[in-house]
Amino acid sequence: MNVLITGNSGGLGLGLTKTLLERDAIVWGMSRSGCPVHDNDGLRDRRFDLSNLNTLPEALERLLSDCLRLDLVVLNAGILGKIHEISETDVHDLEHMMRINVWSNKVILDWIIERQLPVEQILAISSGAAVNMNYGWGGYSLSKACLNNLVELYAHEMPDSHLTALAPGLVDTAMQDYLCGEVDSEEFPSVQKLKDARGTDAMPGPDQAAGMILDLLAELRKGESGQFVDVRKLGDHG
Ligand SMILES: NC(=O)c1ccc[n+]([C@@H]2O[C@H](COP(=O)([O-])OP(=O)(O)OC[C@H]3O[C@@H](n4cnc5c(N)ncnc54)[C@H](OP(=O)(O)O)[C@@H]3O)[C@@H](O)[C@H]2O)c1
Repeated sequence: MNVLITGNSGGLGLGLTKTLLERDAIVWGMSRSGCPVHDNDGLRDRRFDLSNLNTLPEALERLLSDCLRLDLVVLNAGILGKIHEISETDVHDLEHMMRINVWSNKVILDWIIERQLPVEQILAISSGAAVNMNYGWGGYSLSKACLNNLVELYAHEMPDSHLTALAPGLVDTAMQDYLCGEVDSEEFPSVQKLKDARGTDAMPGPDQAAGMILDLLAELRKGESGQFVDVRKLGDHG
């Protein structure tokens, strides 16, 4: 299996990378700090800041120079930003978040189309925040809502690939270190359920979440391309 994963230096992206390598996949990865997996012939990794949209196509060309087809692309890299009022959020911080959470994914999809690289399945890692506009989640919610719509739009233009915007459920990563450790749930009540979930089955670690996502791939392909799917509501998805 040939797989491209963005944001594979930690969290869910690293969990996916390790799980796929264990299953003998070839993984092409891209993140700023680099994937910490060493001594694995299946991994081709490139350090790159995805907010550099102008040079992203060149970085993709270098990373994937020997790749003739991909079974899976996981557009996973993302940032949360600070939980605070949207009216207090600097528009430049929002722009930066949109570059990483949305526009880098557009550039990657455009590059795949331009290069005519066959790709069977594409997962853009979204979030329940894409539909829950909870108080304080402004920039992140906006970016994930935009990502869902981006995926729906690209599904029209990539008829030979199956696209899903996938909310992975809660995953115990650095993002949760910030949400559970630093955000005041009295000020932002939506964070309390994350604090309650941490350490329980409702918030698996990245390796477990990765296995669950990979085991869902075939089921996701049965649904219409371009949909938003929340793993916690999979029974509702047609
Ligand atoms: N954790 C959850 O409960 C949860 C829930 C719903 C959705 N998600 C989504 O799941 C995805 C993974 O999140 P996570 O929880 O695993 O977060 P994480 O542990 O913070 O990992 C984020 C990854 O994105 C990469 N990244 C961030 N900015 C980047 C940039 N400018 N250029 C290149 N790579 C960049 C990071 O690598 P570098 O820092 O090395 O660049 C890292 O590998 C995100 O899209 C997130 O929104 C997570």
